[in-house]
Formats: sequence, structure tokens, C-alpha cells
Amino acid sequence: MRTMAKREQMNIVIVGHVDHGKSTVIGRLMADTGSLPEGKLEDIKLMCERTSRPFEYAFLLDALKDERSQGITIDSARCFFKTELRDYIIIDAPGHIEFLKNMVSGAARAEAALLVIDAYEGVRENSRRHGYLVSMLGISQVVVLVNKMDIVGYDEDVFENIRKEYNEFLSHIDINPIEYIPVSARNGDNIVAKSSSMKWYKGYTVNEHIDLFKKEAEAVNKSFRFPVQDIYKFTKEGDDRRIIAGTVETGTIRTGDGIVFLPSQKRSTIESIEGFNTPVRQEIEAGHSTGFSLKEEIYIKPGELMCKIDEPLPHLSSRFRVNIFWMGRAPMVKNKRYKLKLATSRTHVKLVDINNVIDASELSSELNKDHVDRHDVADCILETSKPIAYDLSGDFESTSRFVIVDNYEIAGGGIITEHISSDESILKDHIHRREELWEKGFVSPFEREAKNQHKSKFVVFTGDQVTQTIAKKLEKRLFESNYGTYYLGMKSFRGGLSADVIDETEFKEEQILRLGELARILTDSGQIFITSLKDIDDYDIEYLKLLTAPSDFIVVNIGKNSFSTFKVDIDIESCDNDESAVEDAFNLLKSEKVIPDYII
Ligand code: GTP
Ligand code: MG
Repeated sequence: MRTMAKREQMNIVIVGHVDHGKSTVIGRLMADTGSLPEGKLEDIKLMCERTSRPFEYAFLLDALKDERSQGITIDSARCFFKTELRDYIIIDAPGHIEFLKNMVSGAARAEAALLVIDAYEGVRENSRRHGYLVSMLGISQVVVLVNKMDIVGYDEDVFENIRKEYNEFLSHIDINPIEYIPVSARNGDNIVAKSSSMKWYKGYTVNEHIDLFKKEAEAVNKSFRFPVQDIYKFTKEGDDRRIIAGTVETGTIRTGDGIVFLPSQKRSTIESIEGFNTPVRQEIEAGHSTGFSLKEEIYIKPGELMCKIDEPLPHLSSRFRVNIFWMGRAPMVKNKRYKLKLATSRTHVKLVDINNVIDASELSSELNKDHVDRHDVADCILETSKPIAYDLSGDFESTSRFVIVDNYEIAGGGIITEHISSDESILKDHIHRREELWEKGFVSPFEREAKNQHKSKFVVFTGDQVTQTIAKKLEKRLFESNYGTYYLGMKSFRGGLSADVIDETEFKEEQILRLGELARILTDSGQIFITSLKDIDDYDIEYLKLLTAPSDFIVVNIGKNSFSTFKVDIDIESCDNDESAVEDAFNLLKSEKVIPDYII
């Protein structure tokens, strides 16, 4: 039996100012490549005749909206046509500025772009904006269609002038269109058939040119990337294994392969590939939604990126350089906290630095701007609240593109262009400034220690076993031994120190930051300050350590925790007896010379 080779598919985005003729180009491409269902064109022409409306190729798009063609639904934004070489999906990004938002998400899936300019109207504001967007989205294969040549009498000079003007503009933003093609979409000149009215044009038609676009490497041939969407428990009783669910964005993976989750850096091995009502399989590749069970059970959360240990890994950092397109009502400013969504991960993010802001319509570039206005394209540095795993644009699609949310609305979108391995961070700057401004009293830490007969320390209880009681019992034990100590439970933050934090997703992060500040104060006051924290990771603990400095902390862990590399000071596997855990912590304070190892 002969099997048909799978046809190659390519996504192309078409952009241009309102009414410059995008839909007509698409309609023409579909009609003239014979990609329309039988009789469709005739039906619409007939319908136009009956209603005495002039026929428009753009009507084809509406008429096909609800149809199923080759098993795929055609909608207004995505149309299909085919050449002998391959199948195309053409994404129509509407020209109105309000729709640029759609483009940020729509165009990013494209491997090439067609930019349409009306020969009569010339280069318009949106023609420039779209040029920027295409550049910003990292689409390097661009063909410019100078449309409606029929209106300007197929005049070569008009075409050349537009070519010069737009090329001058595009060269500033690092786009080198492969070609400018003079077309009349309405009449079908140079779309599929060569134009007899523009013999002066010797280049390819749109159709021929599209076939010359180069395909990116197939997603399956890239390194494995699997953003974790969710974690499910096996339903059978007594089975405490979990299924890590999501979609394989790139690459392939087999059972037995070693994997690492980022940013947590936890490692495991693929035990099985799970599907619902699907035959058992040993291997799965890009494009599939699936689940995995792991050999070594580890605790991870949705939002992590699962990768293969023996392949090139994504970058991991909290600072990176981006190209951003801002569409928020309020400008993007420094020191404000936004939400960043990249693949399945969600973090907070701040604008650190702006290298260059360009007003997309004016071509005015401002180097010293300190904020990003609506419809600006900015090359800037962002910092997330915790390191995230990402790839660079051009290499990977879904793990290099992000969206920024301000006040529950998508306010910006962009791509990561450069990895920054910097030791600087907003937190470190903050601590540096805090220490500079710190107003010392006349009592030195040394005098305080001598008077109290013990050192100050921050004691953090972690782990999934109820640790508050043990933490409180340690406070009591220390208090009864005459040490200056204080327990503060995290619940107290809600109504107190963090009462102003309304957003639930910000609460956790704020809690860590405020707790760290408090630990700095209470350890400076000579106390043994105790708290108990659930569900904190390596990064949380690192931030606490930074904030508590110049004092230090001790970490007592009871039960399971979410650390991957951080080593706790005592690790109590499980605890049936509070008193012995309290004793262990008490003895640790002695061995660490926080309290004397003799009775006072
Ligand atoms: P939006 O979707 O609103 O952004 O517009 P569009 O870019 O999709 O433009 P559309 O294809 O709807 O065309 C707008 C108008 O221009 C229609 O009336 C078309 O008939 C006309 N038009 C498109 N191409 C040509 C052309 O080559 N020559 C002439 N004379 N008119 C054209
Ligand atoms: Mg249209």
C-alpha cells in the first residue's frame, strides 16, 4: 500500500492598513490557486448579481466562515489555500489599530509576512506600525505587495516611489523585504497569474514567491519543551502517583528519558506516557497534548517547563532583553508590578531599563524615555520576580513569546531577544539602599548580645507537616529559658502587615518580602524571631536570606518541601512527636551558638 507523504504546511500573516486590500489578496489567492470548494466562486458572483452588489473577492472570506474545508474550519482570521508545493494558512490581521492586540498573538505564529500597501494611498501610519510589528515579532521573511496598481494606471514610477519610501523606513528597523511586488488583487495581476499590464515588472508573482519562503526547522526536530499545564492525581485508590499534563511544544520524548523541570531544576525520568483512551505509547512528539508519569516522584507546580536533560536547555534568569509592543491604556512605567505570562508560567515583572522606544507611526526614536506609551515599540530590559525558563525568539516560538497583563487586561506583548546573566537585581538594589539609609541607635549588636546572653537569629520552619505548633512550642521553650524570642504566624499578615495586598497572586510574594524586612528589624533588635512557612521554594528562601542580612537564618524542615538545591539546617522526615522536634531545633540553636550550651 502506498502512503501519501504528509504535505508541508506554512503559516503566513498578512498585514496592512485598513482597506488596502488584504482580504482581496487572500480571496484572489484562494480562487486563483483553485483552493476553493467547487462552485463557491460562482455562487457568490451569482448572489452579488441578484442583490445587484458589485462582486468583491473579500466576500469569499465571509462566505467561507462557517464552512468546513479539508476538515478544517475556516474563520475570518485564518484562511487556507494550497499550491503544488504545500498548504498555507494565511492569518488576516485586521488593520485597525484596536486589532493590533490580535496581531501580537496572531502574527507570532507566522513564519513569513505579506505587507500590503495601497498604491494610491501610499505608505500610511499603519504601514509603518505593521513593519515594526513584523520586525518585533522576529519574522524575517517579508514580501511587500503594492496593491491597487490598476488605480494608478499600472505606473512603474508610483511603484518605485513607494518601494523607495518604505524601504528607507524598513531598513531602519532591520527588515529587508525579499521583494516588492506590484499587484492588483481585484484584477488578479501578479497574484497567481503574471500581469500583462505591468510588463516592466520582471520578478515573481505572489504565488511563486510564497513557495520560495523557507520553512523553519520542524517543531519535532527542535529540543523538547513541555510547559506544564496541570498536575493530576491518578484516580485509582492507593496510587499516589501524579500525571504531569500539557502540550508538547517542540521535540520528542520517550519513556525512560531523563528530564529536568525549570525553574525548579528538579530532575526525574519519564515512567509512562498517559493518554485518555489512547493506546499505550513509548514516544510522543510536538503538537500533542498529553500527560506523563514520573519514575521518581517530585513535587513540581504548573508553570514549569519540562525539558530533556541531554538536550540544549532554555535560559534561566530573571532578567532579559525584550522587544515589546505596548497597548495598555496607561503607559508602562518603571517600578510598577505587572504580570508576565510566558507559556504556562505566570510571574510578576518590572520594567528595569529602556534601551530605545520608537513611536511606531512617527518613526521617532527616543533614547532617553523612561516609560513606554500606548502603541510604542520598545527595546527594553525586564526583570521577573523569580527566574523563569525561556528561549530566544527565532529559536523557539512558544517559549520566547510573552504577554504582559496590567489590571487584568493584556497591555503588552513581546518576544525575548537576549539572555542577561546579571548579578544585579531590583531586590539587591533595594537592600543596598536600605542598608545605606539604615539609622542605627546607640546600642550595638554586641552590647545587646551580652545583655541578652544569646545571639539574635531568624528561625524558619518549613515543610508540609503542620509546623506552626512546633514553631510556637519552640518560642515557648526559649521564652521559659529566658531568651528573647517572638513567633509570628503568617496568618497575622493578612489582617496586618499585608492587609493592603488585595490581589491573591501578589500575596505570597509580598509576604516573603515583608517577612524578610521584619526579620531584618527583629534580628537587629536582638530577638530569636520564629516563623513557619509552607510551600516555599529555593528562590523564596534566597530572597529571605538576602533581606534578613546582615543577620542570618536557620531553616528547620519537617516533612516534604519544595526545595531542589537548598539545604536545610535540620530535616525531620516526619514528626509524630512535637516535643522531640522542638528539642532538635533547640539543640540546633545551641550547636550554632545562638544560645549558650550551658544553663544560665
Ligand atoms: P480591512 O479588512 O477593513 O482592513 O480591509 P482589507 O485590507 O481587507 O481590504 P479589502 O480587501 O476589504 O479591500 C478594500 C477595498 O479595496 C475593497 O472595496 C476592494 O474591492 C478594494 N480593492 C482591493 N484590492 C484592489 C485592487 O487591486 N484594485 C482596486 N481598484 N481596488 C481594490
Ligand atoms: Mg479585510
